[in-house]
Amino acid sequence: MTSDDMATIIGISGSLRRGSHNTMLLRQAVELAPPELRIEVASIREFPLYDADLDAERGVPEPVRALKDRIAAADGLLIVTPEYNNSLPGVLKNAIDWLSRPSADIPRVFGGKQVALMGASAGLGGTVLAQAAWLPVFRALGAVVWPGPGVYVRQAGKAFDAEGRIVDEHIRAAVVRHLAVFAQHLRH
Ligand code: FNR
Repeated sequence: MTSDDMATIIGISGSLRRGSHNTMLLRQAVELAPPELRIEVASIREFPLYDADLDAERGVPEPVRALKDRIAAADGLLIVTPEYNNSLPGVLKNAIDWLSRPSADIPRVFGGKQVALMGASAGLGGTVLAQAAWLPVFRALGAVVWPGPGVYVRQAGKAFDAEGRIVDEHIRAAVVRHLAVFAQHLRH
């Protein structure tokens, strides 16, 4: 936490798609966060596919190094995850895998880091399976997935208007509540 009691977290959407509902959800989170919680949006678009030869020969690529430093300096992470085939999306897992290299650096980047999850999916589960699939990944990295009240946006195609705003008041309230309680949690 910074001295002004403002918590800063890094927000990452796990979809690269232009019209991504998860990126819309992340943008809404930025807008709906309480004043004491700053969400800095980070991109994983420039991350290459993980290749241990590339890692061994050149180390982590610059966009990975830069994001590692931002996560290390932040109070927490907000992961906004799609659900693919009842599990987590490969694009985002690839990013987390890069961010975990070299392994000696894991405690600096992820050790004790508070992680909040949200997600939007086309199906009725609203990413409940994807969010569950992230648990062992962050546990392996020594991060702490905060359970929170939860945000599961189902039938994502109908959940946002043309400007990317959440249509349903209950979902909007769930985002507000999730972030408010996460901010409170980070202050203690
Ligand atoms: C999906 N989708 C999907 N939805 C869901 O509710 N459960 C699932 O298991 C899957 N599986 C799945 C696999 C793959 C490969 C794709 C491409 C899609 C649909 C998915 O929820 C939908 O495309 C979301 O809109 C993806 O998130 P973004 O890109 O809108 O953020």
